Amino acid sequence: MSLRPGTVARVNRLVDRHGRAHRDLRVSLTDRCSLRCTYCMPAEGLPWLPAPDLLTTPELIHLVRLTTTLGIDEVRLTGGEPLLRPDVVSIVAALADAVELSVTTNGLVLDRLAPALRDAGLTRVNISIDTLRRDRFKEMTRRDRLDDVFAGITAATRAGLHPVKLNTVLMRGVNDDEAVDLLRFALDAGVHLRFIEQMPLDAQHGWRRTEMVTADEILSALSDAFTLTPVAGRGSAPAERWYVDGGPETVGVIGSVTRPFCGNCDRLRLTADGQLRTCLFARTETDLRGPLRAGASDRELADLIVTAVLGKQPGHGINDPTFLQPPRSMSAIGG
Ligand code: 5AD
Ligand code: SF4
Repeated sequence: MSLRPGTVARVNRLVDRHGRAHRDLRVSLTDRCSLRCTYCMPAEGLPWLPAPDLLTTPELIHLVRLTTTLGIDEVRLTGGEPLLRPDVVSIVAALADAVELSVTTNGLVLDRLAPALRDAGLTRVNISIDTLRRDRFKEMTRRDRLDDVFAGITAATRAGLHPVKLNTVLMRGVNDDEAVDLLRFALDAGVHLRFIEQMPLDAQHGWRRTEMVTADEILSALSDAFTLTPVAGRGSAPAERWYVDGGPETVGVIGSVTRPFCGNCDRLRLTADGQLRTCLFARTETDLRGPLRAGASDRELADLIVTAVLGKQPGHGINDPTFLQPPRSMSAIGG
């Protein structure tokens, strides 16, 4: 870390037993979503969290600000679909001075919200898009909203939320023939594309290793159309990147399953109902909402967070024979 002259180094209290310093907090604003991606949730949706269980906006802001005193300096707002939270713009405004803020969204309402989010202090946005074909989008998400995603990508770019990143999950026999088209689309639109290996986090527990399109398969498909050269220095970033046709444009692949990056993980998660998770795949959570509502001091809450981090497991264990999928699904944890 380079420090400006005159700044005082803050001790990161979020170092776990494996030496990993945590700086990145993913905060779920809601477990609800406006899409129903087949790899995420069933057509009828899920039993949503009851309203009284959700952190109120002042509670959420209080907890996030507290984590920034412990070592968090980057916050990503997630869901479900975070832009469904009615006061998302004020949440951004309340946090933007304390951390670097980004949002992961399905993009449906970005056309309307991108300028306000930027004005409130949002710096970056990740938009999910798994296909460029309208019929296929309708099948994969059970909603006919692909044009809204396209409009959202344009709006984010216009609003200057750079670098706009696109996230794609490929599924065998569903959209795995679109890797090259999606990259061409991203290059033309001047945005970054990252492919994410599908993880066992769906509510239906339908994930099968054999159905997952691996990082190697994605790279091999892209190599038919582009020359890929590795970009050095992954750091704690989940994505490995390759220059496309000599660069400067790059493509990313997040090989969560076949190329795990747990050893460099610097992420924590706060669910919409105020539970701290040290890993997407953790089987335990630390309740922060209960103590907060019972009047716990910041010092007591900080101790709970530090203790949770000390208990963080070394890795997700997806590749172990004893692996068990966590009880909550991706949309309820926060991506
Ligand atoms: N595996 C990998 N990525 C997933 N996403 C949702 N569920 C999964 C899963 N099981 C992606 C979404 C979105 C981001 C939040 O995570 O497509 O891009
Ligand atoms: Fe919504 Fe994301 Fe789940 Fe799709 S993957 S249904 S966009 S929460």
